[in-house]
Amino acid sequence: MRSTRRSFPSSSRQSVLAALVGVVLAATACCAAAQLNQSYYASTCPNVETLVRGAVTQKLQETFNAAPGTLRLFFHDCFVRGCDASVLLSGPDDEHSAGPDTTLSPDALDLITRAKAAVDGDPQCTNKVSCADILALAARDVVSQAGGPYYQVELGRLDGKVGTRAVVKHSLPGAGFDLDQLNKLFAANGLTQTDMIALSGGHTIGVSHCDKFVRRLYTFKGGAAAQRGPPMNLYFLRQMRQTCPLNYSASAFAMLDAVTPRKFDNGYYLTLQQMKGLLASDQVLFADRRSRATVNYFAANQTAFFDAFVAAMAKLGRIGVKTGADGEIRRVCTKAN
Ligand code: HEM
Ligand SMILES: *[C@@H]1O[C@H](CO)[C@@H](O)[C@H](O)[C@H]1NC(C)=O
Ligand SMILES: *[C@@H]1O[C@H](CO)[C@@H](O)[C@H](O)[C@H]1NC(C)=O
Ligand SMILES: *[C@@H]1O[C@H](CO)[C@@H](O)[C@H](O)[C@H]1NC(C)=O
Repeated sequence: MRSTRRSFPSSSRQSVLAALVGVVLAATACCAAAQLNQSYYASTCPNVETLVRGAVTQKLQETFNAAPGTLRLFFHDCFVRGCDASVLLSGPDDEHSAGPDTTLSPDALDLITRAKAAVDGDPQCTNKVSCADILALAARDVVSQAGGPYYQVELGRLDGKVGTRAVVKHSLPGAGFDLDQLNKLFAANGLTQTDMIALSGGHTIGVSHCDKFVRRLYTFKGGAAAQRGPPMNLYFLRQMRQTCPLNYSASAFAMLDAVTPRKFDNGYYLTLQQMKGLLASDQVLFADRRSRATVNYFAANQTAFFDAFVAAMAKLGRIGVKTGADGEIRRVCTKAN
């Protein structure tokens, strides 16, 4: 490697370094250029987008919970083994029996099952569209139906054949992460700090259970002050102590964006400015000077947030995409063929 680097004129050293970093990232199965495109199913299943959207619309009419649930499902799919629908596999060693995946939304899983049935119900499409692509489309549709941006989705992911509990926990961010920890994990997936801040805006819809932020509400015996994370608005703190008393029940939860919890807007960033971010990992984006300007920018300009979110979702959707023998089109989304 060294001799290769020396043989280039110094002016191009930076781009060589960048290329080397790219190679390393690709080697860790992060962002290897997948052959995705927006018209992947144009001849095999031209109606795929309409079919998925129909299933999403119907499910959201029954319960809005499926919207945040599906967006989170897509994020967790892509961060664990790449966007290959491994998160949907169901078995004794499956991903959703581990770590943060234990609270993935059953309504989101149901939405994907229904969307798959809708797609396969079209004789032209039967067993031609991957569950990973259905999830990517459904994530776009829940965002847009909740009031967020509509964007084109790249397609052509294959479904993975493997999902295991073991890799889940270290692949996903924790609610207590600081900025360095967040940046490190997102960078390992080819995402910048701006991508990370924009994607965290997904917390403009949905909920968190008390166990993920109760450390911010009380000083526990032996608990270091740092565990409480960035300071919280006192009025909000009192409210959250009522929502999550010390003897909180496992099902108790609060809205991630307390102001407009069912609207995909830039309200999440406004809550951060008011010190009403629910998770430490949310509030740290405003507390840390290195990320605060981006939070302020997205809080002031929803269009800028939407643009950054769409760009980051495209990058998220390219992580670890399976091709060739590594993948398949699953007949049933919860089982490898
Ligand atoms: C930046 C690091 C992130 C951390 C530490 C984090 C952590 C969490 C936690 C702890 C919850 C609550 C889970 C529960 O109590 O059941 C949650 C919920 C959620 N997360 Fe994240 N998350 C992060 C990034 C993302 C990203 C990138 C997205 C999608 C773009 C996302 C979308 C969601 C959604 C929509 C919910 C609500 C789920 C529901 O209501 O069913 N999160 N997240
Ligand atoms: C999309 O990708 C598929 C498979 O790689 C290919 O057959 C098709 O021609 C591509 N379409 C466009 C418009 O690039
Ligand atoms: C918590 O304790 C309070 C007061 O003792 C009680 O009223 C409440 O029912 C308890 N809640 C749970 C979830 O156990
Ligand atoms: C908001 O952001 C958009 C997209 O980046 C930009 O075109 C627009 O000029 C911005 N608006 C303001 C008022 O700064």
